[in-house]
Amino acid sequence: MNSNNLKFAVVGCGNIGKRHVAVLDKESGADLVAICDVDDRKAKDLSDLYSNLEYYTDYDDMLNNTNAEVVSIATPHGLHKEMAIQALNKGFHVLVEKPMALTEEDCLEMIKVADEKRLKLYVVKQNRYNKPIFYTKKALDEGKLGKVFMVQCNVMWNRHQEYYEDSEWRGLKSFEGGALYTQVSHFIDLLIWWFGDVVDAKSFIRTFNHNIEIEDAGVSSIEFESGVLGSLLWTTCVYNKNYEGSITIIGEKGTIKIGGKYLNNIEFWDVQSFPLPEDEVFEDEPNNYGKYQGTSSNHDKLINEIVTNFASKRNGLVEGTEGIKSINAIKKIYNRTFLQ
Ligand SMILES: NC(=O)c1ccc[n+]([C@@H]2O[C@H](COP(=O)([O-])OP(=O)(O)OC[C@H]3O[C@@H](n4cnc5c(N)ncnc54)[C@H](O)[C@@H]3O)[C@@H](O)[C@H]2O)c1
Repeated sequence: MNSNNLKFAVVGCGNIGKRHVAVLDKESGADLVAICDVDDRKAKDLSDLYSNLEYYTDYDDMLNNTNAEVVSIATPHGLHKEMAIQALNKGFHVLVEKPMALTEEDCLEMIKVADEKRLKLYVVKQNRYNKPIFYTKKALDEGKLGKVFMVQCNVMWNRHQEYYEDSEWRGLKSFEGGALYTQVSHFIDLLIWWFGDVVDAKSFIRTFNHNIEIEDAGVSSIEFESGVLGSLLWTTCVYNKNYEGSITIIGEKGTIKIGGKYLNNIEFWDVQSFPLPEDEVFEDEPNNYGKYQGTSSNHDKLINEIVTNFASKRNGLVEGTEGIKSINAIKKIYNRTFLQ
């Protein structure tokens, strides 16, 4: 442990909590000082893996006793707001997993408390660090695509029924909210980062072949603030495995398709005055959870940037005021839905 390091605690020792722990363990500018899970077995097993790391089974107990400065929240969506506010009120900075919360109102409350307490409220958006995303953002910022006309985003993934059945919270309206929050918010974050807020959307959503309260498929026609027209297709019904997580951009001076299964590849890049470096290797890895895979595992880059920004008092990461934009977009896409 280094006394200058930023001290973290992690709540939620599930799929992504384990990734937070692994990343924090390796990050030289951070010290992981405590973990917490209501499931005693999960917390203890993870503690054993990391040299008897201090662990708790009660969140309040952890907040009252840990010397952490930042709390990483990796629990079900429906708990994000309450847990973030609890930590902020006790003087901790917060890094909350996506989605920030399930409603705009909840996000606003979180932002308000962070502001009042003058504490940081970061939201995980690790796909922003994928290499194809970096090049696309650069091309857009430098105006290399000219006027952007349209964007198409496909999330064609598989989640087995067991993915929902093995979980106490997935598939429930009150805890998960819907696939737009879980699988698609990564993509929505990028679309609004590049093309502005969703101003209008017309959607159809369905629950085709899972026994769950939320949707497992949808299509939406979207108008973004910049005038870009978008088409979004999402589903967890694809047979057998994940096939595609892609964004195609059609601009006046260029066409880009970021593809692969998890926005990890450039499938085509034809931009008038912005060729890709020939020797670039696209190697972003997905998070692997055993029975299924998620999006990119670039949590290490995010945590490193938090640590660096803290040391230099820089801003620029995704904070609450940015995280809320995806929740607002999701609301617009669901609200303008023609239900079955
Ligand atoms: N950024 C990403 O790519 C990414 C990937 C996966 C999950 N996530 C997000 O992380 C969150 C967790 O997802 P997951 O897949 O790890 O879920 P999970 O079910 O595997 O893990 C959640 C953990 O939280 C624990 N928990 C529940 N209530 C608790 C409480 N009151 N106190 C302490 N612990 C509690 C559970 O016991 C469980 O171990 C979700 O919001 C999800 O969207 C993000």
